Amino acid sequence: MERIVINGGRPLYGEIEVSGMKNAALPILFATILAEDTCIIENLPEISDVSDSLEILRCMGAEIKMLDRTTVKIDTSNIICGSAPYDLARNMRGSYYVLGAELSRFGRAKAAAPGGDDFGVRPIDQHIKGFKALGAVVDTNGGCVICECREGPKGANIYMDIESVGATINIMLAASKAEGMTVIDNAAREPHIVDLANFLNSCGADITGAGTDVIKIRGVKRMHGVTYAIIPDMIEAGTYMIAAAATKSKLTVTNVIPKHLESITAKLQEMGIAVEVGDESITVDGRRTFYATKVKTLPYPGFPTDLNAQIGALMSMAEGVSMISEGVFDNRFRYAAELTRMGADIKVDGRIAVFNGVRALKPATVKAVDIRAGAAMVIAGLSAKGKTTIEDVHHIERGYENLVGKLCNAGADIRKELVPDEVAVKAN
Ligand code: EPU
Repeated sequence: MERIVINGGRPLYGEIEVSGMKNAALPILFATILAEDTCIIENLPEISDVSDSLEILRCMGAEIKMLDRTTVKIDTSNIICGSAPYDLARNMRGSYYVLGAELSRFGRAKAAAPGGDDFGVRPIDQHIKGFKALGAVVDTNGGCVICECREGPKGANIYMDIESVGATINIMLAASKAEGMTVIDNAAREPHIVDLANFLNSCGADITGAGTDVIKIRGVKRMHGVTYAIIPDMIEAGTYMIAAAATKSKLTVTNVIPKHLESITAKLQEMGIAVEVGDESITVDGRRTFYATKVKTLPYPGFPTDLNAQIGALMSMAEGVSMISEGVFDNRFRYAAELTRMGADIKVDGRIAVFNGVRALKPATVKAVDIRAGAAMVIAGLSAKGKTTIEDVHHIERGYENLVGKLCNAGADIRKELVPDEVAVKAN
């Protein structure tokens, strides 16, 4: 077990470069199953969700070779349907993309029901509704989801009851090699949906409308391998933008697509923080008082739920009373109890949290309860003068490449250390 130790209260400076996007990398890695060929994927983030996905593909029969730290060569010609390892797959959310990819390629699919962060119940009914519309019989058995399309998937019109990132992606995968045209109505519009469509199209798929709420997929018989680079991670970028504001620093975040960050840029500006937008970089100057605001998290292009915890850490220190209304998940405020240990004044009622801004947070020992909550603890720890210790950092490593190294290079006093055995045993 490892923990992060921060000696907070120091400003950040210089630049932090953003890595490839986790939530684009995961579907694209599983989408290589459709190519039945060799793909080279570049700008992969070096995070545990990516290494776990590569391990799942390797266990399924893919040949995998890292060409450098962020580039992988994957040959999926010899994938065996239904062979995703149960324990690895059930512990991560993105593993359910095996289902859509296998259904498209083999007409049948089997994988563990997915796990992921605990934000309340996370049903997959919209994925199943989509698979059924394409002609699959779907069953669950022994913790697995099993799909079978006797005559292969057939195009259909699918209206999604909820704008779901995962279900939109899974249906795009399942329909890519289906017979005929599939139309997804009320589709999610996130940049990673567009990135996946671009990847699939460069492999020979025929997808239009990604990035709007109607996506059309004309099924193709064959696809092929390509070289493809993943887009930068807007959530990682937003996290460092908020870290700059919280530590009253001037920091430039590089390798970003500013369009993807408009909701966060606007919100920081509304709080009184200076944000300068370049072509592929954003500079945040937080060296002034910042004020309370209101945020409602929504599907893209709304303010992302994956920045709820980080903006919550900032609101804890903003002058006045702020509010977050969570519009995507039932239980995204588990971080509030941890921030409260650091002196934050937060009241949570269901999907609403009210932050009564305090002058400064105080250092404490806290837990990373999920990826983004962990990032919020890092932001709080960087701003609080003194020693903050963050436990359960494996959550952070699922989604942030070299967070400690990147922040060190930007002037933070932050390190990772092993938890001594006796402390680890007591914590269990
Ligand atoms: N939902 C259903 N039925 C479904 C699917 C979703 O009711 O069949 C509900 C969910 O319970 C939720 C809402 O619809 O209330 C939206 O969920 P969505 O399907 O969009 O989320 P997801 O695909 O499970 C992905 C990301 C999350 C991110 C959300 C929202 C991956 C692997 N995960 O989850 O990322 O919060 O979209 O943008 O892409 C993270 O990176 O920290 C993270 C949690």
